[in-house]
Amino acid sequence: MGLGILSASSSTLQLALLFFCWSLVCADLSYTVPEETRRQFVIGNIAKDLGIAAQRLSARKARINTEDSSKRYVDINLSTGDLTVTETMDREVLCGSRMNCVLNYELVLANPLEVHHVSIKIEDINDNAPKFLNEIITFEIHELASKGQRYPLDEAHDSDIGQNGVNGYSLEKNHHFILSVQDNKRGKKYAELVLDKELDREEQKEMDLVLTAVDGGTPQRSGTAVIHITVLDANDNVPVFTQSVYKVSLAENAPLGTEVVTVRATDADEGANGAVSYEFSSMSENVAQLFSVDKVTGEIKVRGDIDYEKETSYEIGVQAKDGSGLASTANIVIDIVDVNDNAPNIILTSLNNPVPEDTAVGAEVAIINVQDKDSGDNRQIRCSIQNNVPFKLNPSIKNYFSLVTTSPLDREKESDYNITITATDGGSPPLSSSMTIHLSVSDVNDNPPVFDEQSYSAYVAENNKAGTSICSVTARDPDWRQNGTVLYSLLPSEVNGVPVSSFLSINADTGVIHAVRSFDYEQFRSLKVQVVSRDNGSPPLSSNATVSVFITDENDNSPQILYPAPEGKSLMTEMVPKAALSGSLVSKVIAVDADSGQNAWLSYRIVKSTDPGLFSMGVHSGEIRVQRDISESDSMKQNLVISVRDNGQPPLSATCSVYLLISDNLAEVPELKDMTYEEKSSKLTSYLIIALVSVSTFFLTFIILILAVRFCRRRKPRLLFDGAVAIPSAYLPPNYAEVEGAGTLRSSYNYDAYLTTGSHTSDFKFIRSYNDSTLPAGGTLRKSPDDPFGSSFNEAHGEEIHFIPFLASLLLLDVVGEIKPLMWTETLKAWC
Ligand SMILES: *[C@@H]1O[C@H](CO)[C@@H](O)[C@H](O)[C@H]1NC(C)=O
Ligand SMILES: *[C@@H]1O[C@H](CO)[C@@H](O)[C@H](O)[C@H]1NC(C)=O
Ligand SMILES: *[C@@H]1O[C@H](CO)[C@@H](O)[C@H](O)[C@H]1NC(C)=O
Repeated sequence: MGLGILSASSSTLQLALLFFCWSLVCADLSYTVPEETRRQFVIGNIAKDLGIAAQRLSARKARINTEDSSKRYVDINLSTGDLTVTETMDREVLCGSRMNCVLNYELVLANPLEVHHVSIKIEDINDNAPKFLNEIITFEIHELASKGQRYPLDEAHDSDIGQNGVNGYSLEKNHHFILSVQDNKRGKKYAELVLDKELDREEQKEMDLVLTAVDGGTPQRSGTAVIHITVLDANDNVPVFTQSVYKVSLAENAPLGTEVVTVRATDADEGANGAVSYEFSSMSENVAQLFSVDKVTGEIKVRGDIDYEKETSYEIGVQAKDGSGLASTANIVIDIVDVNDNAPNIILTSLNNPVPEDTAVGAEVAIINVQDKDSGDNRQIRCSIQNNVPFKLNPSIKNYFSLVTTSPLDREKESDYNITITATDGGSPPLSSSMTIHLSVSDVNDNPPVFDEQSYSAYVAENNKAGTSICSVTARDPDWRQNGTVLYSLLPSEVNGVPVSSFLSINADTGVIHAVRSFDYEQFRSLKVQVVSRDNGSPPLSSNATVSVFITDENDNSPQILYPAPEGKSLMTEMVPKAALSGSLVSKVIAVDADSGQNAWLSYRIVKSTDPGLFSMGVHSGEIRVQRDISESDSMKQNLVISVRDNGQPPLSATCSVYLLISDNLAEVPELKDMTYEEKSSKLTSYLIIALVSVSTFFLTFIILILAVRFCRRRKPRLLFDGAVAIPSAYLPPNYAEVEGAGTLRSSYNYDAYLTTGSHTSDFKFIRSYNDSTLPAGGTLRKSPDDPFGSSFNEAHGEEIHFIPFLASLLLLDVVGEIKPLMWTETLKAWC
C-alpha cells in the first residue's frame, strides 16, 4: 500500500510519523480487516510480526495508543501478542465514501521505548443496499408527448463503495417506457425514463412503474422506488354520439315540455376537453320554435305546438361540442304521429233556401262538403242528420253529400226546418261537429179558403135598418200572405127575380153580411145566397158556402078587423031574434093579422056594452053569443065595442062597434033610421044618386069589361082568386086552421061572411092593411107562380090594379053597399 493515497489533511502527520518511525523504529505493522468483524476476532499477531517473544510483551508494557481520543476498535492480547477486534467497525460510519479507510494506531513498547505504527485497513463489505431518496417519484406527462422523450430519474444512493455501490438500474416491464442507464461525469450511473410508445390518457391515465437500483456487491443488494406517472389530457377526442341517427315518434299536440329524446355524446377527454354541450346544428327557424335541447343533458323537449297537419316529420341536426370546440353531429328524425285532434269541418256548398213547398220528393236542396284535416281513420267521416225531418243525406262524390227531400213538404204544416248535420270521424275517441241549416219552405197557393161551416143560418128581425149586419162568415186559408188572404163576395143570383145584391152585401175583407134594405117578414121569410171566398193567389182558389137568412116576424101589423068595419064608419047592424036563447050565436067579429105566430094570435074582448050581462064574446073565436035569454025588458038597441088584440110584444089592437037590434022584424024598428047615416034622410037625393050611379056603373062596367077581356087575353087568366080564397094563406096566422074547430072562420069563409053578412048596408072596406104595407090592393089577389112576391115591387103594376078599389071606392063611397067591389072581380074572373 502506498502512502500517496492518504488524504491531504493527514499526510503531514503521516510524513512525520514515517520520519519518526524511520528514525526510531523501522518496522510498521499493517493489517487488513473487513468491516463489521465480530469482536475478539484476531486480526494478526504483533509479537510474531515484530519478532519479539510474546512473554516479553507484558514486560515491555506493550499497548496500543490511538492517535486521538477516538474510539479504539482493536487491542493487543499481551499474553499472546494477538491483535483483536474490540469493537465492531462500520466502514461507512468511519470513512463514509472514502475509498481508503485505515485506522492508525501506535504500539508503544517500553524498555526500550519502541513505537511501532500499526495501520488497520478496513475493507468494505456490501452491507448496504441502494436507496432512493423518495420512494415515489411522480411525473406528469402530457399524453401528446412524443416518442423518445426522456425523463431523468433520481439516482439511487448506496453507502457502500466501489463495487458495492450502485451498479445499475432496472425498470418494471411496461408498454410505454424503457430505461436508459448511463454514467455521469463522476462515473456514477444514472437512469433516464424514455418514452418508447405514445401515451393515451383515455387508455390509461396513470401508471406506477417500479424502478429498481442494484449494486455490484455479492450478494447483490437492491432498492426500489415507484415511478408514478400521471398522463395529462390533451383534447384529442371528439364527442361521440351514442347513435348517429335518433329516430323517434312523437304524438302531435304533445304538451310543452314533453321529452322527445335524450341524445348523448361522450368525449373521452377529461375536464373541459371532455365536457360536452349540445346544440342544434341545422334546422329551419320555425322548427327551432318547436324544440329545445338542453345544453347539458342533451334532452330534447317540445317547446311549441306540434301539429301533424302542418308537418308530419322533422329532421334535426344536433351537435355535441366539447370545451375546446371539437364537435360531432347526429341526426334526430322525429316522426309526428297523428292524433284525432281535428273535428270534421262541414261546409255548406250550396243551399236552395227557401224551398217551395211543391218541391218534388228527392229534389236536391243543399250540397254539403265535409273535411277532416287528420289522416287515416281519423279522417274517415260519417255524416248524418236528425230523423224527424223529411230530408236525408245522400253521399255523393268523395266528401260531398246532397241533402234531398224524402217526402212532400207542406208549408202549412211545417214552415221551416232546422236540419242539424252531424259529421263524425273515425278516430278514437271520435270527434264530431255539427251544423244547423235553417231551411224555410216558401208558400205555394195550394190551399183554397175553407169556410168554417158549409152553410150558415142567420136570423134577422123584419123592419131592420138598412145596413144592419146580419151575420158574418169566415173562411180560412192557411197559405202565406196573399195566397192566404181571403176575399169574400156574394155569388150573383136572383131572389124572386131581383139580384141578391139588392138584399144583401158582404164586406169583402171581414165577411160580415149586411142587409141592404129593410126586410118585411110579410113579404118573404127567407133567402138563400152563396158566399164565395177567394184567396189572392195566382191563380186564385176559392170555395163557397150557403147562407140562409131567415127573417123573423115582428109585431108590426095590428089586427085588421074585416067584419064589422072599424068604428066610426060602421053602419052594420045585426038583428037578434027576440026569441034567441042563451048561447045562441048572434054575430062574429072577423079579424086578421098579417103577422104570424103569437103576433097574429088574436083575442077578442067586449070593452063596452049597453047591457054588459047580455052578450058574451068568444075570446079567440070572435063569436058573439047571447049570454042569457033575452027578455022583454031588454033594450032593443044594443051597442058593443069590441077590441081585437094580438099577442105580440107589445100587443097591437083594433076596435070596432057592433050594433045589435033585438027584433024579429026590421020594420018594427023605427029607431033604425037613427042608426043610418044622415045622408039617407033625403030619399030623393038617394034615388037621384042611384040613378046616376047606375048609369055610370053600366058605362064603366062596359069599359072595364072591354079592358078585362083584353087584359085576360094578354095575361094568364089564373091570376085571380082560387075559388073563394081571398087572402093568401101566407098572410094568415098559421093557427087559423087549427082554431077552425073553435069557430074561427077559415080565410075563405072569412070573405064569404064578409060578402054576405055585410051585403045590405055595410060600407065597403077593403083590406087596407095589405094596401098600406107593401102590396097594392090588387096584388093581394094576384098569384103568379113564378113571381110570388115580385109584383108587390112593381109600381107600374100596382097602379094598374089600384084602380079597381079606387073605382069601387068612388062608386060605393056612400050608403048603397049593394054592389061590392069584389063582385067586379068575380065577374072578371067569370069572364076570363
Ligand atoms: C230553428 O232555430 C231557430 C233559431 O235557433 C228557432 O228560432 C226556430 O224556432 C227553430 N225552428 C224550428 C222548426 O225548430
Ligand atoms: C203564392 O203562391 C205562388 C205560387 O202559387 C208563389 O209563387 C208565391 O211566391 C206565393 N206568394 C207568397 C207570398 O208566398
Ligand atoms: C160551390 O161549391 C160546390 C161544392 O162545394 C161546387 O159543387 C159548386 O160548383 C161551387 N159553386 C161555385 C159557383 O163555385
